[in-house]
Amino acid sequence: TIGNSTNIQWHSCSVQKDDRHRLLHQKGCVIWITGLSGSGKSTIACALSRILHQRGKLTYVLDGDNIRHGLNKDLGFKAQDRAENIRRIGEVAKLFADAGVICIASLISPYRRDRDACRSMLPNGDFIEVFMDVPLHVCEARDPKGLYKLARAGKIKGFTGIDDPYETPIHSEVCVLNFNRILLIDLLGCM
Ligand code: PPS
Repeated sequence: TIGNSTNIQWHSCSVQKDDRHRLLHQKGCVIWITGLSGSGKSTIACALSRILHQRGKLTYVLDGDNIRHGLNKDLGFKAQDRAENIRRIGEVAKLFADAGVICIASLISPYRRDRDACRSMLPNGDFIEVFMDVPLHVCEARDPKGLYKLARAGKIKGFTGIDDPYETPIHSEVCVLNFNRILLIDLLGCM
């Protein structure tokens, strides 16, 4: 029994991950970008995708906000919904990595347990956690979508950093303090 499914069996195909890797001349992986709203996750995800693309690497960005328009439109922002949001995106990212794609997931993913669950889905070294280490006051001053203002006014309940938790990563592979193009290139160096 797997979850709620009984009598199911794994079916393997003759074309395997390594075959796809050889075809694409790259190894799939997941770059998981976590941080507060307004910390620059989407910006760095897209910039990283562009640079890798220019270097002939196949990438795909999974952005929390965007996935909530489709696959995850049934989910809200309660802890349980966020956990399910992260679990689904983790599973999709794993499929992308298995397909040979460099999958860049960009989500607040506020709970350590949920992020670690995604990490444990992948082989060692294939999950690269990037922490956007930007203090709340900086994100709030940027407030690109005006959401912090609404949260402070009580018009959005359970907003991350205001009246909902964000658990800071302890063991991220990359910590982004003040990003620019040079830093992006450093980041590429660890791949
Ligand atoms: S999570 O916590 O990982 O499930 O969130 P995520 O899927 O990344 O979605 C975050 C974006 O949703 C908007 N938004 C909120 N964020 C946090 N808390 C609450 N209550 C909330 N309501 C809406 C917000 O635009 C987030 O976008 P980013 O890109 O992080 O600014």
